[in-house]
Amino acid sequence: MRLTDRSTWKALQAHSREMGGVRILDLFAQDAQRAQAFSIEACGILLDYSKHPVSAETRRLLVALAQDASVPEQIAAMFDGRRINITENRAVLHTALRNRSQPPVMLDGEDVMPGIRAVLDRMRGMAERVRGGIARGCTGRPFTDLVNIGIGGSDLGPLMVTTALRPYGLPGLRAHFVSNVDGAHLAATLAGLDPETTLFIVSSKTFTTQETLINARSAREWLLTKLATIAPAKVLVEHHFAAVSTNLDATAEFGIIPERVFGFWDWVGGRYSLWSAIGLPIALAIGFEHFEELLSGAYEMDEHFRNTPLERNLPAMAALVGLWHIDFLGHPTHAVLPYAQDLMNFPAFLQQLDMESNGKRVDRSGTAADYPTGPVIWGAPGTNGQHAFFQHLHQGTLVTPADFIVAANAADDMPGHHDILLANCIAQTEALLRGKGEEEVRAELRARGMRAGEIERLTPHRVFPGNRPSNTIVLERLDPRSLGALIAFYEHKVFVQGAIWNINSFDQWGVELGKQLAGGVLEDLKAGKAGDGHDPSTKRLIQHVLDRQRKDKGTLEAEQER
Ligand code: F6P
Repeated sequence: MRLTDRSTWKALQAHSREMGGVRILDLFAQDAQRAQAFSIEACGILLDYSKHPVSAETRRLLVALAQDASVPEQIAAMFDGRRINITENRAVLHTALRNRSQPPVMLDGEDVMPGIRAVLDRMRGMAERVRGGIARGCTGRPFTDLVNIGIGGSDLGPLMVTTALRPYGLPGLRAHFVSNVDGAHLAATLAGLDPETTLFIVSSKTFTTQETLINARSAREWLLTKLATIAPAKVLVEHHFAAVSTNLDATAEFGIIPERVFGFWDWVGGRYSLWSAIGLPIALAIGFEHFEELLSGAYEMDEHFRNTPLERNLPAMAALVGLWHIDFLGHPTHAVLPYAQDLMNFPAFLQQLDMESNGKRVDRSGTAADYPTGPVIWGAPGTNGQHAFFQHLHQGTLVTPADFIVAANAADDMPGHHDILLANCIAQTEALLRGKGEEEVRAELRARGMRAGEIERLTPHRVFPGNRPSNTIVLERLDPRSLGALIAFYEHKVFVQGAIWNINSFDQWGVELGKQLAGGVLEDLKAGKAGDGHDPSTKRLIQHVLDRQRKDKGTLEAEQER
């Protein structure tokens, strides 16, 4: 049965007409216990979702929809290694990567845990050797800089976590991340590096990704040129390159020795891969014991997710409230606002996690979805965002539900800072909820001695409608364990939404067409002529770029002749 034909869906549609005009503040007035009743605390994380137009009845109906859509059965199917990625015929077992318990995790009659533990052991060994100065560059100097070369899931997760856990870094060992095919990214990174003490990690599940391969080749060229007199190419690559991939033939062809290659499996999706060997730069940067803490935090969230009834389940309730906004209240965007500078890359990480997973237009049977699916995810750290786009959150015509993420305790010893950060985070959720009515604005302006005419002119501009929804997510501290739990929380939130929408959250065919067409455009650029078969705009753009390149070349040549 189509999702929109289900009685549970229709009941929510009818209910949304009742709730559409509700003031959230009135819900608080009706229920003194609301703040507690619409909060969940688990795995060191508090989720307060009371500042939404969600009543006890809304929650009951949302949970009924999730039950009707077999969410509990779908959760079990994922953890049990069923092939739920139906367009690629793959299991989805990133949860096994952080499984800290003894029972086997079976896939096709085989326990995947021994293989996972073996790779983790090798990662531990590599991290200890590099951090302890045992593994060294070809001239015998310890490594000072790691450069991860990867893109998408082979970049965003390790980059986000390494940045978030900055205080756990080893002084004297810097981590860099190069992803963009724009040569500026690699050039700017290499500019400050000493080739003798630089270790490159080429991270690519497929080892066929255009951006990663050209960056890796250019990095190898840089190394070989800089150290040409020191050692033969083979020795240089052996010392200064490691790889993380499922494509072991391609890593060997690149020249990376098997001892420096860390494998993983096709049942680990790119955007879910930071828990696998793709997390090697994390383990090198913060130490293997902290990487294990990250895994443990995620495992704790996994256990909570699979064993807790939906109405007390952190990821499930966040998913349901999100779905309420997207499908029933007509709010298709979602802001992620970490009040933690170290989480500056979290919105970009979540963009891939959520939008690559649930940006889908057909359901599992291939039928067009007649309901909105994945939201537009965007955001930036607070308090910076307050001085940029928060205007839109408070007074724009669109309503954007937002996640405010903050840690109760500071990561750094900077007296006075953390309380100001906390105060701003909490106050913003209060301001969005409460708003400021006309009477309050007028009274304020009168108290300042403003003339009546001026008060009338300015009042509409200074009114805040309020009633703007937000979640507040409070960690005790931003540490490896809580970060692991936070990431797993969002992974499972995305899972629950995809499960209800009946879409495959684990493929990403939508990225393929652009890659294919880029091949044709590249051929045209190399041939110096826009070929037929493009639309007129595209053809003109290719020609325009080629003309500008010719002009630039001509100018350069003329300058050289002068
Ligand atoms: O283009 C999208 C994508 O396939 C992502 O899903 C993936 O994380 C990224 O490219 C990188 O892929 P790989 O790790 O194979 O280089």
